[in-house]
Amino acid sequence: MGSRPQPDTVPAQMAAMLLTGHGDIDTLVYRQDVSTPQPAAGEVLVKVTATAKNNTDRKAREGLYPTKDKGEVASFAMGDSPTLTFPRIQGADIVGRVVAVGDGVDSGRVGQRGLLDFNLYADARRDINLTPDYYGHGADGGYAEYVAVPADQFHHIANPELSDAQLASLGMCSYQTAYHMLTSAGIKAGERVLVTGASGGVGTALIQLCRILGARPYALSQPDKASALRELGAEAVFDRSDMSHFTEQVKAVTGGAPIDAVMDLVGGEMTDRFIDTMIFDMQARASYPRLSIAGASGGNISEIMWTRIYLYQVQIFGVSHGTREEAEQLIDWIRGGQLKPVLHAAFRLSALHKAERYFVKRGSQYLGKIVIVPDSEWATHGAPHALEEIA
Ligand SMILES: NC(=O)c1ccc[n+]([C@@H]2O[C@H](COP(=O)([O-])OP(=O)(O)OC[C@H]3O[C@@H](n4cnc5c(N)ncnc54)[C@H](OP(=O)(O)O)[C@@H]3O)[C@@H](O)[C@H]2O)c1
Repeated sequence: MGSRPQPDTVPAQMAAMLLTGHGDIDTLVYRQDVSTPQPAAGEVLVKVTATAKNNTDRKAREGLYPTKDKGEVASFAMGDSPTLTFPRIQGADIVGRVVAVGDGVDSGRVGQRGLLDFNLYADARRDINLTPDYYGHGADGGYAEYVAVPADQFHHIANPELSDAQLASLGMCSYQTAYHMLTSAGIKAGERVLVTGASGGVGTALIQLCRILGARPYALSQPDKASALRELGAEAVFDRSDMSHFTEQVKAVTGGAPIDAVMDLVGGEMTDRFIDTMIFDMQARASYPRLSIAGASGGNISEIMWTRIYLYQVQIFGVSHGTREEAEQLIDWIRGGQLKPVLHAAFRLSALHKAERYFVKRGSQYLGKIVIVPDSEWATHGAPHALEEIA
């Protein structure tokens, strides 16, 4: 049965990066006197070794999640109450080791390495998740030395071939979102799937997951990332800086066949061009055109004629995260070695400002994820993945 944390092994205070309000990176304040959380009933206390960065950290910090056009709700809200309150510890994709358990949790879990299913699920339903809130937003996350999370969402992953930082790069924020994009659109083996924003966390997950499902991913990215994306599984890579005659470019690599479904992380003006690739010859299709949308890296507003949507019967799916079932399927694939980590670099927790700047201005060789490692764990879990020029 459960035990409380032992004072001699778990310090009363810990280092953490506190988000103190909406704004620029100065709202992130590094402190070493934050109270260490205690695991409640049903929870484990995790000593964090690596937490992957996601776009959502920046967006939540900057208040870029309006769901009303006047901007009075700057982040995800339950009813009218925002769940993001300050100070908050961000960081969703957490890897670490269990150091204590709350009541009702098997003490045999102490010592296990795990990866967090980052969702704050509203209920126990396994096949639906209607509240896209998560650790690092509506509750404290992994930019700290310790975090308390539900025992049943901290999945044991032994796999010694994966370092902790690599495991964090396989985190659910990207992978579960990607998988839910594909399941929402009912992607089947053999289908041609256009993946936009292909080099990012969700894009690289989509390419791998398409291959697991037997589908054929076509990537939209930049030329200098093309060979890495093909190696990851992309059938072909299109240059997003040259969207002229995009449908013709697609036809040239598909042998004239339409794209079956688009996984859109880019939005803005490009989405209409993506739709073109699905509808140019409806008689050549075997299924309805499908558009899954989970991001808007290229713009939050798209102008699309509704007649194109309903006359061509384009099915549109808004996607946020995914379900418990989908998280568990992904964990099985990680355990089975079917998903490969795409880790760009690790940064120290105290250098999160530097990591944020790097993430926003990242260069052309950037692929996959950045991982943040507590300073106390840096030598073991961070240094092997540091970028030479910024180590
Ligand atoms: N709905 C959800 O639950 C959920 C969960 C995770 C992420 N997201 C959202 O999904 C999107 C992707 O997330 P991510 O974590 O994969 O982000 P990421 O790692 O930052 O990757 C985004 C990629 O989009 C491309 N891109 C960036 N700016 C662009 C522009 N102006 N026009 C066209 N392409 C551009 C870049 O890829 P290339 O260089 O290869 O083109 C970039 O690597 C973000 O908008 C994020 O907020 C949503």
